[in-house]
Amino acid sequence: MLLRGKAAPPSRPAMYQFAPPSDAPKPELYRDLLAAADDLTASEPDAVANMANCAALLWQFIPRLNWAGFYRAVPNAVGAELVLGPFIGQPACIRIAWGQGVCGTAAMSGATQLVADVHAFPGHITCDAASRSELVVPVLRDGAVVAVIDLDSPEPDRFDAEDACGIEALAVLLANRI
Ligand code: SME
Repeated sequence: MLLRGKAAPPSRPAMYQFAPPSDAPKPELYRDLLAAADDLTASEPDAVANMANCAALLWQFIPRLNWAGFYRAVPNAVGAELVLGPFIGQPACIRIAWGQGVCGTAAMSGATQLVADVHAFPGHITCDAASRSELVVPVLRDGAVVAVIDLDSPEPDRFDAEDACGIEALAVLLANRI
């Protein structure tokens, strides 16, 4: 059967050009990243589209990353697990058990995981052998973890409290948009 939609004039631009300054101080970088994420997601109800665009923004704005994206909390027979969502980087581990690895730990605890050396994190799951440090921030809606935002860097000790604070602000912004 041929499905036909009703043609409508595009209500949004076809092209977005955010211009992240390459050497901006972190507060400025995260302010601009948040403004861009707000702009892109405010009137879009599709969670996948919003995660995809935010993964692209993370990649565009934050220097020295080798992976940036989302894992979503999906119910399973024993409660919930994390399932790979939109991302930029190497193909990655698809399902992560609650409590496993850096992502599962963030999901289970509901707390940001700032890992200076992934090799020193018990149970760290290697998706890209280049990763040396990692930042994982849970996205909470009504007190429940609905996703995590995961950033990996090939640089040891790449992330600090300012990065954690910036990504936590993004998680708050996205809580009802993904
Ligand atoms: N390192 C993560 C797995 C996801 S990848 O880094 C994309 C972890 O330990 O949970």
